[in-house]
Amino acid sequence: MKQPKTAVITGASGGIGLELAKRLAKEGYRLVLAARSEKKLQEVQKELEPAQVLIKVKDLSKMEEVTDFYNELKEDNLSIDLLVNNAGFGLFGEFHTTSAEEELNMIDLNIKTVTLLSKLVLPDMMSRGSGQILNVASTAAFQPGPLMAVYYATKAYVLSFSEALDNECKDTGIRVSVLCPGPTSTGFSDRAELGSSKLFKSGVMEADKVADSAIQGLKEKKTVIIPGFKNKLLAQAVRFMPRKTTVNIVRKTQDRA
Ligand SMILES: NC(=O)c1ccc[n+]([C@@H]2O[C@H](COP(=O)([O-])OP(=O)(O)OC[C@H]3O[C@@H](n4cnc5c(N)ncnc54)[C@H](OP(=O)(O)O)[C@@H]3O)[C@@H](O)[C@H]2O)c1
Repeated sequence: MKQPKTAVITGASGGIGLELAKRLAKEGYRLVLAARSEKKLQEVQKELEPAQVLIKVKDLSKMEEVTDFYNELKEDNLSIDLLVNNAGFGLFGEFHTTSAEEELNMIDLNIKTVTLLSKLVLPDMMSRGSGQILNVASTAAFQPGPLMAVYYATKAYVLSFSEALDNECKDTGIRVSVLCPGPTSTGFSDRAELGSSKLFKSGVMEADKVADSAIQGLKEKKTVIIPGFKNKLLAQAVRFMPRKTTVNIVRKTQDRA
C-alpha cells in the first residue's frame, strides 16, 4: 500500500499552523505537529481525527530541542515530504524598552530554528529528489519596522533565506516557498503585546484564508506566497518608494492608537 505523505508543522497548536494542519490533513497527509503546549496539541490531535497525527511537545527556540525533534522523527523512520517552519512570534515596543531576553529568544525561534530544521531535512530530500519546505515569514519581511524592529528583521531573513534556498534547489525536485501574511487574527497580537498599536485595528485577515492561500501557493509551487490583494499590493509598492518614506509609513501604521 502507498504510504501517505508526511508533513511536519512547527507551531501547530493554534493560529496559522493549526489552519494549515487542518487543510493538509484533508489532503491526506500524515502530520507531525510541534509546539510547547501539550494540552493544545492533544486537542488539535482530537479535532483532526481520523487523520494520522503525531504530536511533539518541544520548545523550538532551544536548539537542542530542535535537534532532538529531528532525531525523534528519524527514529520513527518518518521521511518528511513537507516541512512547514511556522512557529514564530513578535514583540511590540521601542527597542530600548523591550526585553532583550524575549528578542534573543525570538531570533532563536524565527531565524535559527528555521535555518537548522531546513539544514537537517534537506539532505534526505536531496537524496530522494523530492520535498517541499514552507517557511512562514510575513509582509514585515519587505521593509524595516519601527516599534517591532527585531521582528521585522527576523522576517526579512526568512524571506531572503527562502528565496535563495529555492534557487539553490532548482532542478533537484525540491521546492522552497515562503508565506508572507499581513496582520492575521491569531494569538500573535497578544503575544506580541500589540494591544496599544493601530496595526491590528483594521484590515486583519482570518487565519483560514491565509492557510487557503498557502496551500494554493504550495500546489502551484510558488516561491513567494502573499495572501490577500492588499498585502500583495503593499509588498510591491515598497519596491518603488524611497526607503525612508516607507519606514515612516510603517511607523505611522503601527504606532500607538
Ligand atoms: N498573525 C499575524 O498577524 C502574522 C502575520 C505575519 C506572519 N505571522 C507569522 O505566522 C507564524 C504563526 O503565527 P500565528 O499568527 O499563527 O501566531 P500564534 O497563534 O501565536 O501561533 C504561534 C504558534 O507557534 C507556537 N510556538 C510559539 N513559540 C514556540 C516555541 N518556542 N516552540 C515551539 N512552538 C512555539 C505556538 O504554540 P505554543 O505557544 O503552544 O508553543 C503556536 O502554535 C509566525 O511565524 C508569525 O510570525 C503572523
